[in-house]
Amino acid sequence: MIIPVRIKDSLYDVHLGENILQEFCERNAEAFQKVDQIVVISDENVWNLHKDYFQQNFSLPYKIHLVPNGEACKTFESYFNVQTFLLQENCSRNSILFALGGGAVGDLTGFVASTFMRGIPFYQIPTTILAHDSAVGGKTAINHPNGKNMIGAFYQPKEVLYDFHFLQTLPETEVRSGLAEVIKHALISDENWVNEFLHLASIADIQKRELLVWLEKGIRVKAQIVELDEREQSYRKYLNFGHTYGHAIEASVGYGKITHGEAVMIGLIPALMLSELHGKVEVGYAHKVFGLAKKLGYQFQHVLNCSFEQLATFMLKDKKTTNGELHFALLQKIGEPFVKVISMEEVKKCDEQLRKWIEEGK
Ligand SMILES: NC(=O)c1ccc[n+]([C@@H]2O[C@H](COP(=O)([O-])OP(=O)(O)OC[C@H]3O[C@@H](n4cnc5c(N)ncnc54)[C@H](O)[C@@H]3O)[C@@H](O)[C@H]2O)c1
Ligand SMILES: [Zn+2]
Repeated sequence: MIIPVRIKDSLYDVHLGENILQEFCERNAEAFQKVDQIVVISDENVWNLHKDYFQQNFSLPYKIHLVPNGEACKTFESYFNVQTFLLQENCSRNSILFALGGGAVGDLTGFVASTFMRGIPFYQIPTTILAHDSAVGGKTAINHPNGKNMIGAFYQPKEVLYDFHFLQTLPETEVRSGLAEVIKHALISDENWVNEFLHLASIADIQKRELLVWLEKGIRVKAQIVELDEREQSYRKYLNFGHTYGHAIEASVGYGKITHGEAVMIGLIPALMLSELHGKVEVGYAHKVFGLAKKLGYQFQHVLNCSFEQLATFMLKDKKTTNGELHFALLQKIGEPFVKVISMEEVKKCDEQLRKWIEEGK
């Protein structure tokens, strides 16, 4: 299956399916003869798990460069190491990069590609559920000690190859992390789709076929929004649903101690409470989603380990906060997002409510 992404200056396809690498190599074999080097960037985990499969299916000649696992690869040091590797291998403007991994490898590789020799083409081969989101849309970045994703570029891939084969080895924590973004995509686009999640009893309850349909839908939602607004001037802010509070949780708990998606799931709850207040979302919906998240094993205890003051400091530091104003993505109704300036006082009330629910459920 192919989902086209139509951004003004770059049109590209997201290919989805099982075992799609071989077809990609055959389709491009001739065109890639003009390419002087193909470099695949992956992390050690992914490479150890999938080296055999990759070697058997990716029939083009390539060099591999491994970076530390997950978030640890989004540093200046590994950015520098990749560039050094490319120079040592005599890469040029005619070279191309492939990101084989989760969102972290994708973000790093994309940023390297955007700057090496002022920009070379890159391809995404996402291997996590979360990366159905991060591989599409062209946000690339590394972290600065003063903040996550602070150094980066908008730089679109040439193609995204989402081969579901890789998902088989994902640990449950990573399934949970990615699923939160899928649920976010459902909440901002389609109430009937959200109902499918509300029927779930546990993560183990998810059928493979069902998951693949959800990933396809999630990519369509993401693609539609970035097509309207590549650079986050308007509609793209909808994708931040759950992220204002979620990012603050992620930063307060500490990167590595909570996954991005787990923090987003927590952030969805205050965002839904505010949507009940400012939109027409039925009262009680936030609590319903809170119940679903608990059934699926999301850990809300993290909230109790952070003070609201701590969270408020992070929310004010967020890239999306302007002049101290919190711009919250909210829902008019399920499937209909909008953006509203929200006072810290109001967020505090939602935070208090959420803490009560967590305490009651202990
Ligand atoms: N660019 C964007 O638009 C965007 C959007 C959302 C998130 N992000 C970024 O994405 C990153 C998170 O991405 P992620 O959740 O994919 O995490 P990740 O890339 O950090 O991977 C998580 C862990 O899973 C392992 N892993 C990856 N694929 C695997 C597989 N198939 N089987 C077993 N283990 C596997 C990795 O080695 C790592 O240890 C963050 O850095 C976040 O900032 C970017
Ligand atoms: Zn996110």
